[in-house]
Amino acid sequence: MYSSRSYCGEVKKTDSGKNVLLTGWVETKRDLGGIIFIEMRDISGLLQIVFDSSTSPQNLETAEKLKSEYVIIVTGKVRERSKETINPNLPTGDIEIEAETVKILNTSVPPPFPIDTRDTLNEETRLKYRFLDLRREYMKDAIVKRHILMQSSRKFLSENRFLEIETPMLNKSTPEGARDFLVPSRINKGEFYALPQSPQLFKQILMISGYDRYFQIVKCFRDEDLRNDRQPEFTQIDLELSFVTPDMVMEIIEGLLHVIVKDVSGRDIQTPFPRMTYDEVMSKYGTDAPDTRFGLEIVDCTDVFKNSEFNVFSNALQSGGVIKGVCVPDDGRISRKIIDDYSEHVKIYGAKGFPMFKFNNGNIEGGISKFITQQEKQGIINKFSLKDPSILFFAVDRQKVVNDTLSKMRIKIARDLQMIDDNKLNFLWVTDFPLLEYDDEEKRFQAKHHPFTSPVPEHIGMLDGLRPEDVDKVKAYAYDVVLNGSEIGGGSIRINNTELQSKMFSVLGISEEEAKIKFSFLLDALKYGAPPHGGIALGLDRVLMILLNRNSIRDVIAFPKTQKGQCLMSDAPSPVSDKQLRELSIKVVER
Ligand code: AMO
Repeated sequence: MYSSRSYCGEVKKTDSGKNVLLTGWVETKRDLGGIIFIEMRDISGLLQIVFDSSTSPQNLETAEKLKSEYVIIVTGKVRERSKETINPNLPTGDIEIEAETVKILNTSVPPPFPIDTRDTLNEETRLKYRFLDLRREYMKDAIVKRHILMQSSRKFLSENRFLEIETPMLNKSTPEGARDFLVPSRINKGEFYALPQSPQLFKQILMISGYDRYFQIVKCFRDEDLRNDRQPEFTQIDLELSFVTPDMVMEIIEGLLHVIVKDVSGRDIQTPFPRMTYDEVMSKYGTDAPDTRFGLEIVDCTDVFKNSEFNVFSNALQSGGVIKGVCVPDDGRISRKIIDDYSEHVKIYGAKGFPMFKFNNGNIEGGISKFITQQEKQGIINKFSLKDPSILFFAVDRQKVVNDTLSKMRIKIARDLQMIDDNKLNFLWVTDFPLLEYDDEEKRFQAKHHPFTSPVPEHIGMLDGLRPEDVDKVKAYAYDVVLNGSEIGGGSIRINNTELQSKMFSVLGISEEEAKIKFSFLLDALKYGAPPHGGIALGLDRVLMILLNRNSIRDVIAFPKTQKGQCLMSDAPSPVSDKQLRELSIKVVER
């Protein structure tokens, strides 16, 4: 009987007069006495069903019993709605079904929230009752688009000679950046697998094995602090290619993203994407993942104030700090109160304040202007090419604090002034990353991307005796793709010989012995004819989140974890039985 069913959202005006069989859930019911209207829902959408005492009195009896979320099967005739009753907000709003039969397949207890609730639900309730939340149009749209994104990617990559190859989920623990999720082995007592942070090493091994174009839509696991765009378990579209240059990888990703954006949101994006070097983005935006949908670029003003007698400036400069600023158009919307709020707000980025002054009619006035000499004022007017009324905000501190403050504040100000066009998709390649960064606390170098990324060949020599202050000078063959201020992907050309890989480990403070224990299979495989290779991974969840304009990554994942890494529906993680622990030779010492 089910085989001939139609989908609610797919019945059309042109089907008028036809008999249909529908299955689904009762979304709403209106009982007008003698006539009952049901909005019926299935995966494809909503459709109005009319039960009328004049056409079928028995059905009216069943219809009276229907409640929210009951599962029903209905047969009936499609008919056009009269002009006055057309619902323009519903895709099927110009038709309805004149019910002939109805059967209740299952009942439902009253749901804790009406399924058609829009944005007012609190997230905890949504996640606890995810099975109901997923019935909402808002979530269904994301889940369907996620499917489309995955299928489009598979099609595009297969057409471009990529093979989809699965790599293991139970791996050796080789923490790369984040902490590993560990899985105890019952058979090998006291030993652990780690869930993959990414398939990085396996995809490189596949290149060495000759599978010259690999891809995988793959779950990755990272035990790190969670944010709105981070999950402990997330999905990558992971690629690796042999005999490849950064330009080739970028061209493939541009092609892939073009198809994804088109299929998911119907929009055409321009390729190739603009490119900027790491040094350029850090200087203009203070971050390596800048939002380029609006201006408010950062300008270094250290030289203008190099002889400043204003304490705040001179003290910072004497201790090696910098002074940078942004220029905001002043149309009267930034009040004194907002300026005060900003100087409080910047403290979360480590800044002590947010000095400002205004430019108006050729004059610099207000704020800290009285501490600024005539020459400095002219210097600022030239530096920012000031013409129209503006407010200039400055950050004065160590480079990192200044960059953090201004990169975050330019976004906050742009949001406050509604300068960001939410319909824009600004893709950007960031290239020429430093290979390493220096960890001041641990007093050692760390890989900026990961330890398998190749330095640019001209800089390999600089690795010997590298000093922390020169760390930014050694550049990597690495590239990130950024969308609207979010890093949606990152990749690199890899090291493909044992000597350089060993040298890299040694620069990173990984001893020969440790390298052998952790990476001997890679160092070994690299000796057996490793082709030049490179790749990239896109964060699927992040791409979808941005394309659908969602504020949280949780809104594009069917069963996500909370900020505390919990699944509120199934209650994971949870304690396990003593028997399970004994079998694994594990003792929990602290709860
Ligand atoms: P990387 O660590 O840059 O590179 O990850 C690639 C992309 O994955 C996404 N991403 C995340 N998304 C959601 N939650 C998280 N916790 C999370 N962490 C990362 C980001 C990021 O750009 N093996 C390399 C790729 C390569 O070199 O080919 C890698 O994993 O969008």
